[in-house]
Amino acid sequence: MIERTLGIIKPDAVRAGNSGKIIDIIEKSGLEIVAMKKISLSKDQAEVFYEVHKDKPFYDSLTKFMSDGKVVPMVIQGDDAIKRYRQIMGATDSSKAEKGTIRNLCGTDIEHNAVHGSDAPETAKDELGFFFCGYELI
Ligand code: CDP
Ligand code: MG
Repeated sequence: MIERTLGIIKPDAVRAGNSGKIIDIIEKSGLEIVAMKKISLSKDQAEVFYEVHKDKPFYDSLTKFMSDGKVVPMVIQGDDAIKRYRQIMGATDSSKAEKGTIRNLCGTDIEHNAVHGSDAPETAKDELGFFFCGYELI
């Protein structure tokens, strides 16, 4: 089934100049980037985006990190896109991510892991709506 998922190139990867490399990995995998932009998140905006993690010990540090530099949100589309994009991202902890995955190649640790990806159809819909408005999602 054709799906859409939200990807984000996180500030660590943007700062390191890895945006192009990450876009290349996504496109070579056969997934299509149908919309994309480069923006800054405020701490408040990052807190809303990651609200699901508000009780986790890493919430404050994560939202500081995500608001400390530009990010590149992307609408990624393809057959089974949610699962396929999670596969090319690799495990959350970059030091344990499978060889050749984005987090293995571009991430540093469990927090600074280069990319975000939605984890299910419902969260994908919410997260796409957080960054992209109606006309951008056509
Ligand atoms: O991003 P993913 O869905 O793989 O992981 P998550 O469990 O939804 O966590 C969201 C983000 O929080 C991760 O991508 C990490 O940047 C960060 N995190 C962290 O800093 N420390 C942890 N122990 C777990 C996650
Ligand atoms: Mg997650």
